[in-house]
Amino acid sequence: MTESEIFDWLRQVQHPAQGDKDIVELGIVDSVDILDGAICVTLAFPKRPDPLKNYLVGAAQAAIYRNAPAGTPVEVKTIVKDPVKPAPKGIQFNLEQLREVRHIVGIASGKGGVGKSTVTVNLAVALARQGFRVGVADADVYGPSIPTMTGTEDVQIEMYGEDENDNLFVPVEKYGVKWLSVGHVSAAGQALIWRGPMASTALKQIILQTLWGPLDFLLIDMPPGTGDIHISLIGDVPMSGAVIVTTPQTVALADVLRGVNMFRNPQVQKPIFGLVENMSWFTPAAHPDEKYYLFGQGGGARMASQLDIPFLGQIPLVQDIREGADDGTPVALLDRPDSQAFRDIASALAASV
Ligand SMILES: Nc1ncnc2c1ncn2[C@@H]1O[C@H](COP(=O)(O)OP(=O)(O)OP(=O)(O)O)[C@@H](O)[C@H]1O
Ligand SMILES: [Mg+2]
Repeated sequence: MTESEIFDWLRQVQHPAQGDKDIVELGIVDSVDILDGAICVTLAFPKRPDPLKNYLVGAAQAAIYRNAPAGTPVEVKTIVKDPVKPAPKGIQFNLEQLREVRHIVGIASGKGGVGKSTVTVNLAVALARQGFRVGVADADVYGPSIPTMTGTEDVQIEMYGEDENDNLFVPVEKYGVKWLSVGHVSAAGQALIWRGPMASTALKQIILQTLWGPLDFLLIDMPPGTGDIHISLIGDVPMSGAVIVTTPQTVALADVLRGVNMFRNPQVQKPIFGLVENMSWFTPAAHPDEKYYLFGQGGGARMASQLDIPFLGQIPLVQDIREGADDGTPVALLDRPDSQAFRDIASALAASV
């Protein structure tokens, strides 16, 4: 039994979320030692939690037990270590790839979980169906959801260009929209995407290092919250303005103010194209004519008028919208009453911009 044999055994463990690359190839196996006949393996996981960490530890143990002589003691440890190479000095972004993009619209919210990604995806599809050329950049580095919502999790992102340091991502085309997510890229070109001060660089790459071509709208699904990443993003990407998504509750409305202020701060001063109220009422599938205002009525419209921003419309809470998001077929693709809301909001946004 040698260390290199053990490495070979560990190559049998594939990472299901990384295009089935094995853990050795992905740099997860940090070290392998044989100490007094016992096997000690250290797996390194990035600070960004990998939901499959426990699975991979178990699978690594199993691979060793399968191959090692019976009775060999095995210890698999984990450490936190980013398998990231430091940023090459002088990585420069330029705005060349956005030259042919007419309007860059950030989709933001003060708070997470209000349906920002759902709105982004359906708005993009609705705009495309109205004849606009649309792209979507999923800038949510920690919880990218666009791949699932568009059924493109398994797509291999292509790269464009000769020079390794000058490569561009080619966005995925589906439903008449060009999509690119941190989720698409972390499987395909990990080294490329994660170099540099991680989060902020990665999401700028998604936006600035991508072959968007001519677009009428580039929608940016911003990460939840209103932190430094946001300020840096708004500072470095020439956004035309923002759409703020909220739910009708009073707490959510307090968050709206934070979202709005992020774009209105004196250093940034971007227009807010409007407020979208999501989950405005609940309509049960079996009773399409009924509306239940679970979180109260009129909150979004009131807040929009207080903040002096356009109110773009309301979206009901319906099961089909959630199912469409989960199975990758946005409801805005269909002509149904619940997708009408997205079409109306798309028209209102185009008018506001
Ligand atoms: N109008 C709606 N009707 C039914 N379900 C919805 C609706 N809007 C969003 N959802 C569901 O609510 C959940 C959260 O939505 P989504 O992921 O779009 O929120 P988010 O604001 O992007 O969240 P995060 O802050 O985590 O990025 C998802 O399961 C989505 O399918
Ligand atoms: Mg989201």
